[in-house]
Amino acid sequence: MSEQMRTRILATISIVALAASCGGDRNASMPPVSPSPPPSLPDPANAPRLKDVMAAHFSVGGAIEPSQLGVPADVALLQKHFSSITAENVMKPARIGTAPGIYNFAPADQLIQFAQANFIQVRGHTLLWHQSAPAWFFAGDPADPGYRTLVRQRLEAYITEVVAHFRGAVYAWDVVNEVASDTAGQTYRESSPWQVALGPDYIEYAFRAARAADPDVLLFINDYNTELPAKRARLLAIVQDLISKGVPIDGVGHQLHVNVNTSATAVDEALTAVESLGLINHVTELDVSLYVDPGSCFENGTGCQADYGTNVPPSILSAQASLYRQLFSVFRSHASLRSVSTWGISDGHTWLSNFPVNRTNQPLLFDSARLPKSAFWAVVDASIAVP
Ligand code: XIL
Repeated sequence: MSEQMRTRILATISIVALAASCGGDRNASMPPVSPSPPPSLPDPANAPRLKDVMAAHFSVGGAIEPSQLGVPADVALLQKHFSSITAENVMKPARIGTAPGIYNFAPADQLIQFAQANFIQVRGHTLLWHQSAPAWFFAGDPADPGYRTLVRQRLEAYITEVVAHFRGAVYAWDVVNEVASDTAGQTYRESSPWQVALGPDYIEYAFRAARAADPDVLLFINDYNTELPAKRARLLAIVQDLISKGVPIDGVGHQLHVNVNTSATAVDEALTAVESLGLINHVTELDVSLYVDPGSCFENGTGCQADYGTNVPPSILSAQASLYRQLFSVFRSHASLRSVSTWGISDGHTWLSNFPVNRTNQPLLFDSARLPKSAFWAVVDASIAVP
């Protein structure tokens, strides 16, 4: 939060307060206007608990690394505001599935222990992702007639072990992550090693294995850009195919890695589209980037918006706060939406510092000092004007 931003918010609050106290009446006996007090947002000590404000609607989650449990400011932030956590990395296949039949559960178990001690739920992320697919799953000769069966068995054994390990501790799994194509005319992510080895049936195998290992956990398909109609159509074509085959799927996870120019109406449409298929919604990885980049920035790192460095324009943080307010208003209007998680808990730790390029980014509700930003106040208090 910059000083200019605080100044602008205070100026707006002061003007509103002044207008109210004047009642619009230009009375000659009115006392002279006193200089503004030092600029500030509302006292952080008065910040309501985000999870309590949203409790009637959905749980409030955040992605974390186990190392953050050793950072007192992060622990305090989690305990105050969050009712759910997601492992930012330590429940991914490359972290847990280090070798066939060998499972590295210890880092994830640390998160589970913390969550249980603090009455926080855990979302499981993720059982299958093309970016976290260890080579041992695919070892062998694809020309061998037994190859498909072998790879399928490895996938099913992995999912069975992992889901069983976390049974009762994880309330929802992103069973498959980012399986829809970004290319017009394609439905599935053709370049995924899972697609290459097994064709699109791997998605069904993953869901069925997860359900067999835990009859109660919620099962999700998770993806990004669901707010874009073309991508959403591809994802929902996959969902409809799964439903038509009787595959056990409970909901759609919307990552919502969005930016300050994203339309909240488009997000509204994404949630409605899932409802009309009879499934529930989770928002799984929300963050609002300060930058609006062209596709090339994500494809090959070119054309990315220049780094703001330490000079983030107040107008951008303002746009971010407005969008957060609109998004949470949309979220609250959907009874089908049961969980909203941000990808990180404060601007002090966000993957957007390194993706798509190294750059200052401040995409979350709390600043790097773990203090509520104007975006936080915009979300929790409709009476606060966003400048
Ligand atoms: C990201 C993590 O935040 C990074 O630390 C890691 O290097 C790469 O993965 N979509 C997802 C998440 O589903 O798992 C990704 O997390 C961000 C994009």
